[in-house]
Amino acid sequence: MERNIRTIGVLTSGGDAPGMNAAIRAVVRAGAYYGIKVIGVRRGYNGLINGELEELTARSVSGIIQRGGTILQTARCLEFKTQEGVNRAVNIAKVFGLDGLVVIGGDGSFRGAKDLCAAGLPTIAMPGTIDNDINCSEYTVGYDTCLNTVMEAVDKIRDTAASHERVSVIEVMGRAAGYIALESGIACGADVVLVPEYEWSFDDDVLRPILESRQRGKHHAIVVVAEGIGGAMEMAKEIEEKTGIESRATILGHVQRGGSPTVRDRVTASQMGAMAVELLLQGKQNRIVCMCDNKIVDVDIEEGLAMTKHISKDDIDLAKRLAV
Ligand code: ADP
Ligand code: F6P
Repeated sequence: MERNIRTIGVLTSGGDAPGMNAAIRAVVRAGAYYGIKVIGVRRGYNGLINGELEELTARSVSGIIQRGGTILQTARCLEFKTQEGVNRAVNIAKVFGLDGLVVIGGDGSFRGAKDLCAAGLPTIAMPGTIDNDINCSEYTVGYDTCLNTVMEAVDKIRDTAASHERVSVIEVMGRAAGYIALESGIACGADVVLVPEYEWSFDDDVLRPILESRQRGKHHAIVVVAEGIGGAMEMAKEIEEKTGIESRATILGHVQRGGSPTVRDRVTASQMGAMAVELLLQGKQNRIVCMCDNKIVDVDIEEGLAMTKHISKDDIDLAKRLAV
């Protein structure tokens, strides 16, 4: 079904992620290419409810592809979770003449996109989050940049851990998911990687590998813990008490959300943003643009939200095997 699309909106919602600007640029430039007007909505769903919209042109998105964060700002909007909030947003969209909307965010934002479609505003969503926790997509924009940031930080922490012959426990973000911990742990050669998706015990999975690796001649250890497990400070303390090895904890925090996006994030954001516009032009709505078998595809929002994705047990085991 073709729909007459003349004006679309774009917004970023939930936690920011490097590459969101590249996605905004792609939406605006694809819009310019197809001759449609693109309006930027500020502060996620808040801006849609409060009428904070302004036109973006091909020129106004110049020089943003390399910038972290989001030029549109982002927010977590409680009011939007109510039907009244959604209705207000759809009314504002009508006032500004929006025929469609592209939402860049995580699964909470996708639920909001579904509500907008149901209330009459055709919406397409695409994944922008450092957590890589969107089940219907192998990849989320921002994840690679985050991994590289974590890798650089852990490499630096290793320098000092090695010099002092300490154990360093590093807590990384990821909300309830362990993707950031697992892949950064492998990339940094961590001795211990703990993710919330798999059971672990302090004695078998933390203490024993640290003590055994000492016996094999390693005098420092890197422990990467996902925030879904948490407790890095307490864990470092307990390691020190039980092993006698000096231990320190670092909670990496929001440094993981910033920075100039990597090639992978810029390219994926560009592909997904352009596809979101093309889907709207094809008359589609209620779809998530996602990555499947390394290709950019689209799925129904509800179906996408119901999918499951598994963190690789093989990779968990690999991290253990390579820590000998
Ligand atoms: P993310 O999109 O990164 O998962 P949030 O969960 O914070 O981040 O969601 C972003 C925004 O999406 C929320 O502030 C809210 O406005 C909207 N949202 C979240 N969950 C829902 C829901 N169940 N229904 C409708 N809108 C939602
Ligand atoms: O979803 C991205 C993320 O950085 C998570 O990894 C983390 O749990 C959360 O957002 C932190 O959010 P904030 O500090 O912005 O409230």
